[in-house]
Amino acid sequence: MELKDILTKRRSTRKFLATVPEQEKLQRIVDMALTAPSSRNTRSTRLMVVTDKTLLEKMSQMRDYGSAFMKDATAAIVVMGDKEASDLWLDNCVITATILQLAVVDEGLASCWVHVNDRPCLKDEPEGAKADDYLRELLSLPARYGILCAVALGYSDFEPKPLPPYEGEERVMWK
Ligand SMILES: Cc1cc2nc3c(=O)[nH]c(=O)nc-3n(C[C@H](O)[C@H](O)[C@H](O)COP(=O)(O)O)c2cc1C
Repeated sequence: MELKDILTKRRSTRKFLATVPEQEKLQRIVDMALTAPSSRNTRSTRLMVVTDKTLLEKMSQMRDYGSAFMKDATAAIVVMGDKEASDLWLDNCVITATILQLAVVDEGLASCWVHVNDRPCLKDEPEGAKADDYLRELLSLPARYGILCAVALGYSDFEPKPLPPYEGEERVMWK
C-alpha cells in the first residue's frame, strides 16, 4: 500500500471481528515496527505480542476507562522500553508504536492505542495504583522495562471513514 493511503486509512478501531490475525501478519508487523529509529541507535524498544484470550480480557481491565474494548481484540502488542539501554526509551517507544500502527494498516488490520505509561487504574484515583504495575504483574515483565502502551488490534468489523484533512491554519507555520 502507498504510504499516503496507509496514513489516511489509519483510524482508531475499537470493534473487531473474531478472526485471529495470522501469525505471519503479526510477525511482519513487529518486523516493520522494529525498523523504527532510536536515540543513538540504542534499540531500546521491546515488544510483547499477546493473542491469549484470557490475557487480553485481563489486560482490558488495566484501567476503568478507555481500555475495556480490548477484551474483544484478537491481539495486542505491548510496547516497552529497556530503561537501562536508553534515557530516551519512552521517545523510542513512541516512534515504534506509531510505525507499528501503520504496519497494522498495511497488513489489512486495524488497531487502537491503549495508553499505559503512568496512567492510573481508576480515573477517580489519579494518585492510586498505575496501569503499568497491573500489566507488569499480569505479564511478568522485568522492572527495567518501562511500558508505553498496548496496541489492541485485529480485523476491523467496520470500515471507518478515512481521516479528514487537518483543520485550523495554526497547525502549520511557514516562514
Ligand atoms: C498517546 C495516545 C494515547 C491514547 N490512548 C488511548 C486509550 O487509552 N484508549 C483509547 O481508546 N484510545 C486511545 N488513543 C486513541 C485516540 O483516542 C485516537 O487516536 C484519537 O481519538 C484520534 O482518532 P484516530 O486515531 O481515529 O485518528 C490514544 C492515542 C494516542 C496517540
